[in-house]
Amino acid sequence: MNPQHIELVKSTVPVLRENGVALTSYFYQRMLKNHPELNNVFNLDHQSTGRQPRALAAAVLAYAENIENPSVLAKAVEHITTKHVSLDIQPEQYNIVGENLLHSISEVLDVPMDSDLIAAWKEAYFQLADILIGVEKQKYENLATQHGGWAGWRAFVISNIEEHENGKRFTLKAQDDQSIVTAEAGSFISVKVAVPNQALQQPQQFSFSEAQNNLVYTFDVKPEENGTAFSVANILLNQYKAGDVVQVSAPLKR
Ligand code: HEM
Repeated sequence: MNPQHIELVKSTVPVLRENGVALTSYFYQRMLKNHPELNNVFNLDHQSTGRQPRALAAAVLAYAENIENPSVLAKAVEHITTKHVSLDIQPEQYNIVGENLLHSISEVLDVPMDSDLIAAWKEAYFQLADILIGVEKQKYENLATQHGGWAGWRAFVISNIEEHENGKRFTLKAQDDQSIVTAEAGSFISVKVAVPNQALQQPQQFSFSEAQNNLVYTFDVKPEENGTAFSVANILLNQYKAGDVVQVSAPLKR
């Protein structure tokens, strides 16, 4: 990016931050309207609390502020890419997010899409996107080459459900009966379920309280009292039974 573009981006961060709610709500509404398939990717339970919408836009703004020294964001990059990889986020989806984010910036700042300012933001966004895509590619390769490993989603059968403390303990085995990667206590998987009565799937992360062997994964699910109809925990607890199939991403360390 040239110095003029860097200046343009940095000078508009405070205005965008001030209008953070407008920016994120416009962004998500626009994106999910134009790309309804992404309703299966984002956790709609989190959307309603506003937690995730704020996180994505805030990360883009934080990056823009540090655009001359992106290494200060190394920790954030590690955190975001781990989450993305557990959700099978793909490079082409960055174009969708980028286009909608740029339209939202143009709307909030009231500048045309063909302005210099939006061109500068476009460069900034794709600079960050390229960093994330590169790190995610490496993580997918690492997952796929582990013994029993895989990248993306893999079908698992619920082999057992038992009552446990205030919730239930689920045990899953790979539907293909092949081995699965071992995992340390504290690592997590994403589990994707079908939302009842809707043509929709929803993912959610679950942590292992104990180390996992290469045959089955066991984790505890607790009811979410304030969960919406999209709460994966509540769907698992109320709708799923032994023999049912869910999609699972390979274990990752937080
Ligand atoms: C430069 C672009 C992006 C940035 C800076 C970014 C940033 C973030 C951040 C900060 C989080 C929260 C991590 C956490 O859980 O603490 C997140 C989560 C997430 N991101 Fe991204 N992201 C970007 C692109 C994308 C793309 C292209 C997709 C796919 C369409 C995507 C999908 C998601 C999803 C599904 C989550 C989890 C949301 C949830 O739990 O509800 N992100 N991202």
